[in-house]
Amino acid sequence: MSAHRKRALVTGGAGLIGSHVADLLQREGWTVRILDNLEPQTHRKGKPAWISSDAEFIEGDLRDRATMTSVLQDIDVVFHQAAYGGYMPEIAKYVEVNSFGTAQMLEIIREQKLPVKKFIVASSQAVYSEGAATCPKHGLVFPDVRQIEQLQAGDWSVHCPVCGAITKSTPTPERAPVGGETVYGLTKVDQEKLVLLWGKQIGIPAVALRYSCTYGPRQSIFNPYTGVIAIFCTRLLNNLPPVLYEDGEQTRDFSFVEDIARANLLAAESDKLDGLPVNVGSGRGVSIREVAEQISDALGIRIAPEAKGEFRPGEMRHLTSGIDRIRAAGYEPEMDLATGIGRYLDWIRQQADVRDYFSEAANILRSKGIVHRVKVGDDRRG
Ligand SMILES: NC(=O)c1ccc[n+]([C@@H]2O[C@H](COP(=O)([O-])OP(=O)(O)OC[C@H]3O[C@@H](n4cnc5c(N)ncnc54)[C@H](O)[C@@H]3O)[C@@H](O)[C@H]2O)c1
Ligand SMILES: [Zn+2]
Repeated sequence: MSAHRKRALVTGGAGLIGSHVADLLQREGWTVRILDNLEPQTHRKGKPAWISSDAEFIEGDLRDRATMTSVLQDIDVVFHQAAYGGYMPEIAKYVEVNSFGTAQMLEIIREQKLPVKKFIVASSQAVYSEGAATCPKHGLVFPDVRQIEQLQAGDWSVHCPVCGAITKSTPTPERAPVGGETVYGLTKVDQEKLVLLWGKQIGIPAVALRYSCTYGPRQSIFNPYTGVIAIFCTRLLNNLPPVLYEDGEQTRDFSFVEDIARANLLAAESDKLDGLPVNVGSGRGVSIREVAEQISDALGIRIAPEAKGEFRPGEMRHLTSGIDRIRAAGYEPEMDLATGIGRYLDWIRQQADVRDYFSEAANILRSKGIVHRVKVGDDRRG
């Protein structure tokens, strides 16, 4: 241990992941400063009550240079969690908050020669184009994102990039190509590349944690664009069917937020992940339909999910995080999905205002051309 208590800056520390990182660090004896602008879409009721009074809370925007210069003083480790997220149509805001905001922090640390000892950035599985797959003939392959023409024809499967055969999903290792097929994904690629390159140039250890789909208590019930578990819960609690894109058989890897917080602590304390992009996930793929059914069971609200053949161009079909790298550094996901969903539901039941923002949001996405519908087949799909 160093002579003083370790000092952390947690950007986005009012949010889902940042707030759990902040709590864990405090339990571990760190001094914690939180920077968060309380983005209105996420925090409709202002500063959330869960922000610990032992943490120094600074309300401010990542994009503001003076604010960032001030909050970066006297910090040992930066846990950069703040980002503009979801599946929104604003292109410039993603670049401004995520790409520019990160670049500016790095520049300030270098310019001011601040004594930061490590920089951890929240990246995402969204940096991949499509999950890794196995072809019966060609073994492990890294397929491209599915083309819109294929999706319009209602073919959801992932084909081998070499022979076109239908593939099977397999865990995606970090060495899979990154691209980013959404503006959000593109800015997560920016963030991790900027941070890792800067770290190498300046000699400050840096880690980019590529989180899988993260859920748990404090996940905004006000932001309808993120978090399928939160969305399905609010739909069911409002007696509405969960809406499945494609056929609902796409798979994702889910991480409980406290596991993600532990991965951050590990990245701060171990040097085994320095300089690397690192997947953080459960290592297990679950279909979205199965998630809807599990939530339905846990709530005791049995409304069958709806699949109307809608899809989001650029969305991957399958993604399971390959977690060998972080496992080798000592990480083990602890929360199973059923228990984690139970923990989330216990929390959401205590929230006064579980309204359905999803229908409104889905209409906006449709009108902006972000959600599409298959062109063939049943006309009643409309
Ligand atoms: N939740 C997931 O499934 C998931 C998956 C992969 C990666 N991530 C990444 O993890 C990080 C945290 O995500 P989360 O799920 O906790 O989201 P969240 O929305 O709950 O938290 C993000 C926080 O950042 C704050 N913020 C946004 N813009 C800001 C700005 N301009 N200045 C200051 N603060 C700002 C918001 O107010 C919010 O409190 C993000 O970088 C996100 O891209 C999340
Ligand atoms: Zn093949």
